[in-house]
Amino acid sequence: MLKIVILGTGNLAKHLYSAFAGATNVDVVQVVGRNGEALQQFSTHSPISNDFNAITDADVYVIAVKDDVIGEVSKHLSNKQGIVVHTSGAISLKAIQPMNKGVFYPLQTFTKGKTVDFSSIPICIEAEEKQSLETLRTLAASISENVHHIDSEQRKKLHLAAVFVNNFTNYLYGIGEELCLEEGLSFDLLKPLIMETANKIQTISPKEAQTGPARRNDIKSKEEHLELLNKPEHITLYKLLSQAIKQAHEKEL
Ligand SMILES: NC(=O)c1ccc[n+]([C@@H]2O[C@H](COP(=O)([O-])OP(=O)(O)OC[C@H]3O[C@@H](n4cnc5c(N)ncnc54)[C@H](OP(=O)(O)O)[C@@H]3O)[C@@H](O)[C@H]2O)c1
Repeated sequence: MLKIVILGTGNLAKHLYSAFAGATNVDVVQVVGRNGEALQQFSTHSPISNDFNAITDADVYVIAVKDDVIGEVSKHLSNKQGIVVHTSGAISLKAIQPMNKGVFYPLQTFTKGKTVDFSSIPICIEAEEKQSLETLRTLAASISENVHHIDSEQRKKLHLAAVFVNNFTNYLYGIGEELCLEEGLSFDLLKPLIMETANKIQTISPKEAQTGPARRNDIKSKEEHLELLNKPEHITLYKLLSQAIKQAHEKEL
């Protein structure tokens, strides 16, 4: 049985906690956080504490706090024997103070109240010691069938890629919703298109899947679109993205 302590009570801490609750070989022996109210959600099945100087001994300490304070929180674990991991895509392994350190990064977007199926979520693990890496592999495999050993440099690039495919795409969904609402139309009208766009790239490359006026370089359609946009940031984005798509497909025109 792997004993783990979760540090943090936010989005990811909550999702990881639920996932580990379903694992037969993992015992969450404590949840530690500074937010007393948020801590209460974990109290039915695990001991909780808001004292970072009273952390229970465990095999793995999972730091799931905001990126900027990972190093600071890890200092409270300096005297521990277990592996101290953070869960961030963007932060180096070296940000952690204790010697026995690692990374346990689930590559997914987590939002409070939105259930996710952990079994298919890629979990990117990293550790300096071979034995620690194997322990992290066992821990990751207890909740996911998609476990990868990825180093800090690769993980940073992967995280950047994730920002493009998730954060930026989601912002663009928001623009789509705004434009629909301006005409009194439901955003639901766009959802089958969004689903098909995501489905298509399961079998063909994004470059092959690209369609639209920018790929075809339909100048008149692009000009009309620009006239319909009111916000300067939307105009800038439309021009930038259209130019980038046109450049990527120039040879085909
Ligand atoms: N959400 C995702 O989609 C996702 C996906 C993969 C990885 N991650 C990683 O998971 C980690 C946590 O992200 P999250 O989305 O769960 O963030 P979150 O929901 O904003 O939660 C952040 C947690 O950090 C705690 N915290 C902030 N400052 C602190 C401090 N000085 N001392 C102690 N605790 C502090 C917060 O406590 P308070 O409530 O008291 O502020 C809260 O429990 C990050 O490293 C992030 O990169 C997130």
